[in-house]
Amino acid sequence: MRDASVGEILVQPDDLARRVRELGSQITADYEGRDLLLVGVLKGAVFFLSDLMRHIAVPCELDFMAVASYGSATDSSGVVRILKDLDVALEGRHVLIVEDIVDSGLTLQYLLRNLGARNPASMEVCALLTKPARLKVDLEPRYVGFEIPNRFVVGYGLDYAERFRNLPYVAVLETQAEVPIQAPTRGAQS
Ligand code: IMP
Ligand code: MG
Repeated sequence: MRDASVGEILVQPDDLARRVRELGSQITADYEGRDLLLVGVLKGAVFFLSDLMRHIAVPCELDFMAVASYGSATDSSGVVRILKDLDVALEGRHVLIVEDIVDSGLTLQYLLRNLGARNPASMEVCALLTKPARLKVDLEPRYVGFEIPNRFVVGYGLDYAERFRNLPYVAVLETQAEVPIQAPTRGAQS
């Protein structure tokens, strides 16, 4: 049974699977002859990342970061705090940051600055979703799954107040007010 707050489906499971396969092939071709370090941004990117990695055929390692950005449940402020840092050093590595969604781009801008200062050999971004209408900073992920309109979406890893990550599709969140949440006091985790 579908939750009443889950609205229109923007990306169906079949389309997610097809696009993730395509991105995996593209990344495999682009990184031929190089070793890759995939950096997943917890928690939202976990579903996308684990599917994507199975379609990447170059040698690759995996690490995770967790960040919290101060702001409301649906808007990030760009003030980012690292909750969990990487286990490995980036010096000389080919790094691909994997994100669930680039909204304002403020979280990603912070990550690019922070990780870029650790001297990786290269650093690119793969985002499942982008909302071009909301972008506040000048950055363009090298790999993008789908561009979506300016709506708050849930599913396939994306949450609202930690709910709906388990949906197998990406759908619009219809009635935010009806989802009981506690106001985030120390920032919302991605
Ligand atoms: P940004 O800093 O504004 O780009 O927001 C980045 C983070 O906010 C993402 O990694 C998500 O965790 C969260 N976010 C932004 N838009 C959405 C959305 O539509 N649904 C769920 N989470 C979102
Ligand atoms: Mg996130």
